[in-house]
Parts: sequence; structure tokens; C-alpha cells
Amino acid sequence: MTKGQFGMKNRILLKNEDETKLFGEKIGSAITQKLLICLNGDLGAGKTCITKGIAKGLGIMDDITSPTFILVEEYEGRLPLYHFDVYRIDDTEELYFIGFDDYLSKNAVVIIEWSDKIESILPKDRLEIRLDYTEDGMREICLNPVGEAAQTLVETMAKN
Ligand SMILES: Nc1ncnc2c1ncn2[C@@H]1O[C@H](COP(=O)(O)OP(=O)(O)O)[C@@H](O)[C@H]1O
Ligand SMILES: [Mg+2]
Repeated sequence: MTKGQFGMKNRILLKNEDETKLFGEKIGSAITQKLLICLNGDLGAGKTCITKGIAKGLGIMDDITSPTFILVEEYEGRLPLYHFDVYRIDDTEELYFIGFDDYLSKNAVVIIEWSDKIESILPKDRLEIRLDYTEDGMREICLNPVGEAAQTLVETMAKN
């Protein structure tokens, strides 16, 4: 999978913050099995914002905060959610100290903001999400499902 090759059919315009959260909720509601979600896009593009929606769709009531300084936040929902932000990671070794592989092996949803920074240590199967600013200050979201779990999820979303 080459980075940045997202099919046009999976590009959607999100007009404001509420739409970003609602789209996240749609993703979260459609999740039925273990899934890795890789979030990329510039600072302020909406990675944490969409994570809030995904968490809501997973039945998580907690307030989702950005785990930039602590690397990972854990939540209990229909499936556990582990929310990472690896923006400040300089060396992937740092992740081994917090048991990163254990998180990935659990029956859970793992969301990683800035996953491109640690691409070399990530499994291929995942839902890739890219958020971009549009010229008029909205956001464009691109979904690229890789592997069976992510593909099933996107098909479920398309039906609902
Ligand atoms: N579709 C949208 N259009 C315009 N602004 C948005 C949209 N979605 C989210 N935002 C705004 O963009 C910002 C996203 O912040 P955040 O989610 O923390 O970004 P990131 O985690 O990618 O750094 C918030 O201020 C939010 O209100
Ligand atoms: Mg963020």
C-alpha cells in the first residue's frame, strides 16, 4: 500500500466540527471487531475531533482528550478504545516501553494520531483516515480500508 493513494469514492467533505464528529460516530457505530485506525493530517485537521465521534459510536461516554503528552488514553466501550497520539515520538523504541505491541494484540479499537511517524512498526491491516483542510476552511476526509476488518466496516457504513 503506497501512502496517499486513496480512492476518490471514499472522499467526503465535512463542513464543520459537528459533521466531523457525526462522521466519526458513524464509523464508531459500525465497528464490530478489533480494528486499528490510523489518523493522519496536519495539526488542527480534526484527528482528535473525529476520535471523539468514534468513541461516542463505541458507546463511550467519557470526554476524549488529546493524549499528546501521555501517548495513550484508555476507554471502556463496546470494545476497549486505546487512543494514541505519537506526534512527539522521536524513536519508535519509546513505544516498546509502554507495551505498544500488547495494545495492538488486544481485542480492541486502537486509534493512532500521526501514525505515519511510526509506520515501520504498524501492521498493514487498518482503516487509514486522512483529514485535509479545504481552501474554504472545511475538511475533506479520505478513508482507505486495508484488510478484511476495515473493508467490512466501510461496507457496513455505506449501507447505513
Ligand atoms: N469539518 C470541519 N470544518 C471546519 N473546522 C473543523 C471541522 N472539523 C473540525 N474542525 C475544527 O478543527 C479543529 C480540529 O482540532 P483537533 O481535532 O484537535 O485537530 P488534530 O487532532 O488533527 O490536531 C477544531 O478546532 C475543530 O473545531
Ligand atoms: Mg489531536
